[in-house]
Amino acid sequence: MIIAIDGPAGSGKSTTARAVARRLGFHHLESGAFYRALTYAALRAGLPVERWPELEASALDALNVHARPADGAFRLFIGEEDVTEFLRSPEVTAHVSQMARVPAVREWLLSQLREAGRTTDLVCDGRDMGTVVFPEAELKIFLTASPETRARRRLAEQGVTDPDPAELAAEVERLLTRDRLDTEREVAPLRRAADAVLLDTTALDFEAQVEAVVRLAESRRR
Ligand code: DC
Repeated sequence: MIIAIDGPAGSGKSTTARAVARRLGFHHLESGAFYRALTYAALRAGLPVERWPELEASALDALNVHARPADGAFRLFIGEEDVTEFLRSPEVTAHVSQMARVPAVREWLLSQLREAGRTTDLVCDGRDMGTVVFPEAELKIFLTASPETRARRRLAEQGVTDPDPAELAAEVERLLTRDRLDTEREVAPLRRAADAVLLDTTALDFEAQVEAVVRLAESRRR
């Protein structure tokens, strides 16, 4: 069974997907981590950002990024080095949308992501899981929350639990910029699949959110 969770930055996709996977004994595939790993590898290799739109499959192969299943999830590697811990840095976050909009990058990752779902039950999250990567998923969820809620969650992840108004406004601005890049790009833009269940988590606590997805999954399990 495949459960596809899509939505904008900070909507709680990854934490929800991880908890749902644990409850159901499924693997968790966080597709954003794959885009982040390519971004990290390109930055580290010194590939100038303005050249990224010209990247082709051979150049992507040369970055040597791949994923390995571990403990119910996937870890990202450059060669033999596990880089999973480095993927949420502000520098990677600031550049990842530019990598994710390159058509050759999306094509290159498609087979890797599908391969991950070939042999195991999966909860995957991202922007195009239900629309492009796993259109046949048995359950599709589109998670949303208000921009302010999403910004507070992102800041809390970075240890800022009581942001002042300026900090909050700056984070809202960064999120909306990324939303814009992700929804307006030509390839695989962020959008809700026609058959996705819409879940607004602004007023839901985390447990209720996880429970809602688990119940839907149980009702659709073959
Ligand atoms: O979910 P995240 O913040 O880790 O995602 C990082 C970036 O990767 C995000 O700006 C958009 C892109 N992304 C994408 O285009 N398609 C996906 N399936 C997952 C992520």
